[in-house]
Amino acid sequence: MSQATIESILQEERLFQPPAEFSQAAHIKSLEEYQRIYAKSVAEPEVFWGELAEQELHWFQKWDKVRDWQPPFAQWFVGGKLNISYNCLDRHLTNGRRDKTALIWEGEPGDSRTFTYAELHQEVCQMANVLKKLGLEKGDRVGIYMPMIPEAAIAMLACVRIGAIHTVVFAGFSAEALKERLVDAQAKIVITADGGWRKDVIVPVKEQVNRALADNGVPSVQNVLVVKRTDQKVNMIPERDLWWHELRQDASTDCPAEPMDSEDTLFILYTSGTTGKPKGVVHTVGGYSLYSHITTKWIFDVKDSDILWCTADVGWITGHSYIIYGPLSNGATTVMYEGAPRSSNPGCFWDLIQKYRVTIFYTAPTAIRTFMKMGEELPKARDLSSLRLLGSVGEPINPTAWMWYYRVIGGKRCPVTDTWWQTETGGAMISPLPGAIPTKPGSATLPFPGIVADVVDLNGNPVGENQGGYLVIHNPWPGMLRNVYRNPDRYRSTYWEHISPKDGKYIYFTGDGARKDQDGYFWIMGRVDDVINVAGHRLGTMEVESALVSHQAVSEAAVVGRPEEIKGEEIVAFVTLEEGYFPSEELTKELKNHVVQEIGVIARPSAIRFTDALPKTRSGKIVRRVLRDLAAGKEVAGDLSTLEDRSVIEQLRSGT
Ligand code: WT7
Repeated sequence: MSQATIESILQEERLFQPPAEFSQAAHIKSLEEYQRIYAKSVAEPEVFWGELAEQELHWFQKWDKVRDWQPPFAQWFVGGKLNISYNCLDRHLTNGRRDKTALIWEGEPGDSRTFTYAELHQEVCQMANVLKKLGLEKGDRVGIYMPMIPEAAIAMLACVRIGAIHTVVFAGFSAEALKERLVDAQAKIVITADGGWRKDVIVPVKEQVNRALADNGVPSVQNVLVVKRTDQKVNMIPERDLWWHELRQDASTDCPAEPMDSEDTLFILYTSGTTGKPKGVVHTVGGYSLYSHITTKWIFDVKDSDILWCTADVGWITGHSYIIYGPLSNGATTVMYEGAPRSSNPGCFWDLIQKYRVTIFYTAPTAIRTFMKMGEELPKARDLSSLRLLGSVGEPINPTAWMWYYRVIGGKRCPVTDTWWQTETGGAMISPLPGAIPTKPGSATLPFPGIVADVVDLNGNPVGENQGGYLVIHNPWPGMLRNVYRNPDRYRSTYWEHISPKDGKYIYFTGDGARKDQDGYFWIMGRVDDVINVAGHRLGTMEVESALVSHQAVSEAAVVGRPEEIKGEEIVAFVTLEEGYFPSEELTKELKNHVVQEIGVIARPSAIRFTDALPKTRSGKIVRRVLRDLAAGKEVAGDLSTLEDRSVIEQLRSGT
């Protein structure tokens, strides 16, 4: 965040009460009601979560124990049996929602499709049967590398229906990045498409899969199931690659949902961390089912009449929880959009809200800032009166963007919920409950019931009111990650290194900085570790550095985030070259493209700065804080006495 943003957040004192009509009809109607629920959730977590699990979900078999906490490993609803696909589909076939629209899909060149709950159920059963026929069994992993088409949702639901574990890889990741994830997950099947539309061009996802699997690069993969979307000519490898539309023809529409143990793995989703390769965040069936369901219900105040549009991609946790599982579990109508705003169609989001009478809209601050730049005319020319609630996610929202969203998109009538959470948390953790909690522009407000959040110093001691510190969570919650796939050591060391000095208990370390104000409201300040957030996309500096040094010209690389108006942060890479290579514009271009090849377009550095040396401590550690200041064009601040060679800074400053 820029200094100006931080200052405006520090000075922000506006308070917006939930509109009275909204509160009256809301699931949680007042601050007192929230406080009562919250107090109970903390005093008696097992009673609280147990009652909710019983009321809100269908179970094939009830659990014996609500929570088993063997720090830092938690189990929830131990002994219970359920299936999230049953909760998202089957139960709505008999509760009056059979012919209700479950999914509305808008495709890029103007295509659209809708599915009722009965239709979606049928499709999911068919794909589940195809997967079974291909030999897929409970516990096997499936890579899903898809554009935003209904079959992405169908594939996810089909996997979880038979107990297969999906790992969705965002289609913007490169073949290299896809391969790395498929190898780690030891995927048996990959589901993809012949292409997908993205900003007026076709993304060749199948070709990327071919590249990832080339030369037996992922030996575990036996088959690739391909959905026809764009009619692109694609290279199908005989026997390995199969068309979904062909196999579907003979697939039965009857496939009972497999009763899963609560603690069976539901899915793996890779995300970036401070060190090493992306880690496979493991979520399990029972806890995630409940947490995605109840956060959708209370934070988005979902009712039967709601049409919810979350603009994320299904490749991210936001898409998992708030396009697919949360909305469908609640029996709502969910909207899925293949496209994105672009110069040829800058008003497409507002067209879609108008066309489908969307009631709940959930997007990221970077998108809001882009819309602000485009002006008020575009949204004002559309009828947005169907909207009743607006959400924000992915990065801190600056008060100016919050106010614009509230005024221009929400017509000052819709509460704005700024939801703080992570891939690891499964669902939103700090957020207004819109009928109950007054909002302040730029604050995620208060923790969700059952979540004990705090701001502490490095030793784990709570910091004072309005003091900056580390955002931590004190107790386990149902939606929390259970592990890092095949790497429990990393699970421990990344999240649970800290023990509270107060009570000797483990604290979950989020990696974010925050402060808590006089009303207990949380203000998230962004990452405090070596993770950067570019347009709401999370990237490890080390991943980008490894990508750079894998290029023959690069000797060493150090990557930092630099504040940027629209994207929040952008990537700046400091690079030293191998002998015989010299800085040039061509090399800059080549290195940027190389990072895109290695990771994907979201990781493309905005700037590459060549230097003879990097600022290091005597023990050889790169001092990133110095580079951050330099990248932002600021004076280098702080103690420089640990630097091995201070002249490096002079040199970097002079831009050589
Ligand atoms: C990181 C998690 C789960 C949401 C999508 C991103 C940042 C997320 C907010 C918010 C300030 C936010 C944090 C967090 N973040 N939401 N409302 N305000 N920061 O999931 O890729 O796992 O990234 O996104 O830094 O740690 P993710």
